[in-house]
Amino acid sequence: MAASKLAVPKGLGAVEDAVAAKNKPRWGFIQFFFVLSVVLCVLLYAPRVFVLAPRGIDVVGFFTPNSSKGTSSSSSSGSSVLSSQSVGGTAGHDGGRLVLDNQVHSPCSSMRDHTICCDRSSVHTDVCFMAGDVRTGAASLSLLLFPPHDHHQHQAPPNGTSSTEEERVRPYPRKWERLIMAKVPEVRLRVARPEEEAAAEHRCDVRHDAPLLVMSAGGYTGNLFHAFNDGFLPSWLTVQHLRRRVVLGVLSYNPWWAGTFSEIISGLSDYHVVDLVHDKRTHCFPGAIVGTRFHGVLVVDPARLRDNKTIVDFHQLLADAYEKPKAEQQGRSSSTSSIRPRLGIVSRKGTRVIENQAAVARLASSIGFDVDVLETATGLPLSAWYASVSACDALVGVHGADLTKFLFLRPGRASLAQIAPLGVSAIARDCFGGPAARMGVAYEQYEVGGEESSLARRYAADDVVVADPERAKREKGGWGLVARVYLGGQNVSLDLGRFGETLARLHAHALLQRRQR
Ligand SMILES: *[C@@H]1O[C@H](CO)[C@@H](O)[C@H](O)[C@H]1NC(C)=O
Ligand SMILES: *[C@@H]1O[C@H](CO)[C@@H](O)[C@H](O)[C@H]1NC(C)=O
Ligand SMILES: *[C@@H]1O[C@H](CO)[C@@H](O)[C@H](O)[C@H]1NC(C)=O
Ligand SMILES: *[C@@H]1O[C@H](CO)[C@@H](O)[C@H](O)[C@H]1NC(C)=O
Repeated sequence: MAASKLAVPKGLGAVEDAVAAKNKPRWGFIQFFFVLSVVLCVLLYAPRVFVLAPRGIDVVGFFTPNSSKGTSSSSSSGSSVLSSQSVGGTAGHDGGRLVLDNQVHSPCSSMRDHTICCDRSSVHTDVCFMAGDVRTGAASLSLLLFPPHDHHQHQAPPNGTSSTEEERVRPYPRKWERLIMAKVPEVRLRVARPEEEAAAEHRCDVRHDAPLLVMSAGGYTGNLFHAFNDGFLPSWLTVQHLRRRVVLGVLSYNPWWAGTFSEIISGLSDYHVVDLVHDKRTHCFPGAIVGTRFHGVLVVDPARLRDNKTIVDFHQLLADAYEKPKAEQQGRSSSTSSIRPRLGIVSRKGTRVIENQAAVARLASSIGFDVDVLETATGLPLSAWYASVSACDALVGVHGADLTKFLFLRPGRASLAQIAPLGVSAIARDCFGGPAARMGVAYEQYEVGGEESSLARRYAADDVVVADPERAKREKGGWGLVARVYLGGQNVSLDLGRFGETLARLHAHALLQRRQR
């Protein structure tokens, strides 16, 4: 697969490559990396694919519902798609009415038909909703809301919509981060002007009987953590209540994204993806959502969703997406029910390497695990990762974007031990520790000591970089030091005595889980 060539992780070495690649049009955005000193885990991953896909994509979607996949019992005929009431099925519908906004206490959750409503109350994200006859405008990246057919018999259009006002949204949930948001195309939303109603250019070329979600495949999506944290989880939060009766209109669409995440994309939507930027046809929808909700770093807050969904429900999307071929499943599940619990070791290349990984694997085996070393740089498809990781009783690995695959672990059964190198303890906890625990994965964090860090070879033992990372960060340049030294210039060599205790706890937990099953 051509895409896998792009996905070679190089640690922070990739930063230099990406800077060199800056001359390539459009894709070389890296400045952010050293600019922000805000320590947020979302910034801390070595960019795997800053150069996404070449331009000039002509893949595009058209309306092809696939009823065999749907769980919602749709009775829609596919005709008369121009009002929100016409969408059939029960999912996301409230007494036959299409409910676009599933968030509680949102100003838009009770919006009226034939209106546009924007919720800009979050610091992370803006989300706009259009209820009614929505059509894409080919000339610019715009969505027009047309009044109902019979509106001439009524009085003026409903209050709250104005044909002169235009809403603008960049659909990516990192509103607070100026540099990356500038790379996200702006979508314009407005009510159609009376003269536009008759114009031939707004006649539908493609009619969809499900509403549109506009999301971005760009931003930092080349990095696995961001693909989930900024992309799929927010999209799922926004449209899961529609139960795949939603069309994904994707900005920065590229074949790498579509290929790498094809199963997840199918898990979100029953329809072909529309490449909104390159597809110049007029697409028509019975409603639209532009932008995605955001509840926190890999967070699903059930209290904010009308249907109380949790991160375990998001895991179920992944399970449904990747476990579909039941035939292959059969062989696998028998092999995983062997006596010895299975331990996966996530094996990085370049930086944050476990230098004595072979000894760690032997130790784990002597403690009683079947050990599976999971190499990160092999370009394996995510479905293969899902199969490997979901078969593990326990997963260990050094902090890094690949640990996002903890989402593939079985909730309520598996455990995760994250190895936090010097200087990244809090980040490790925020990015994966909290999220794993919320998914019902038993979590342990192994804090690397000075003597286990390769930095002890580069700095004197009493150097503040090794002796007191927190002080070093305060005094020696914050984010730059974290990126260059703690993340980009550090390997670990684990103390087998101390790490053995961690492994023994993981093993005991696995045995307990197996006995309870
Ligand atoms: C729809 O599903 C059927 C049966 O699973 C499959 O053969 C067909 O290729 C699918 N069509 C599309 C457009 O996905
Ligand atoms: C709509 O606006 C008009 C004039 O501003 C006002 O008189 C009317 O009560 C409003 N209707 C609703 C339903 O808010
Ligand atoms: C969601 O939780 C609230 C509060 O616990 C409860 O009142 C409500 O019935 C739940 N809704 C669903 C759909 O389960
Ligand atoms: C870490 O290990 C990798 C692979 O062995 C090596 O290429 C790299 O130079 C090491 N980095 C440091 C800082 O020792």
